[in-house]
Amino acid sequence: MDFEEVIRKRSSTRRFSDKTLEREKLDKILEAGRVAPTAKNMQDFKIFVIESEDAIKKLDEAHPCRYGAPTSLVVCANNTESFSSDGKHASGVVDACIVATHMMLEATNLGVDNIWTWAWGNQKLAEVLNLPENIEPICVLPLGYRSDEDHGSHMHDQRKKIDELVEYL
Ligand SMILES: Cc1cc2nc3c(=O)[nH]c(=O)nc-3n(C[C@H](O)[C@H](O)[C@H](O)COP(=O)(O)O)c2cc1C
Repeated sequence: MDFEEVIRKRSSTRRFSDKTLEREKLDKILEAGRVAPTAKNMQDFKIFVIESEDAIKKLDEAHPCRYGAPTSLVVCANNTESFSSDGKHASGVVDACIVATHMMLEATNLGVDNIWTWAWGNQKLAEVLNLPENIEPICVLPLGYRSDEDHGSHMHDQRKKIDELVEYL
């Protein structure tokens, strides 16, 4: 898909069908995350693939927004490998978001429906997945194929005008 088409076509899916996500597509999506840029190239992130019955059950216990997706990626910051220039702001969260964005756009490129869902601060999710203390969930990306019952993303076309968002100084 042309890049312009990818960024226009991407929209949030909140009802997935049972159709499983092909392994080759998942591999490509994960690869798009692997090659994402990170601060100082620290690669301070970790991705967990949620596909087994057991893992899905655990995810559902702690996270309300899987929307029936057969595969979900829990994208985390690795806070012990993060870079900070001021001792206060660490790169892990930013890098995890860039990685997740790469994967979301590659999913769209491959015709795989997706949605970014918030997991930052979800301590229960870290607990049920038994994550080490330095691994902090930032977002969950449910992936798969839109159900016929999905009515589309209600806020997709509601964007501010460019001059509200951009200022030339
Ligand atoms: C950082 C972030 C957090 C989000 N968290 C959730 C969420 O927890 N649940 C949800 O249903 N949608 C979530 N969304 C999806 C947004 O609501 C959606 O992107 C926005 O309404 C624009 O619609 P579109 O993605 O279809 O263009 C999140 C999106 C972002 C970028």
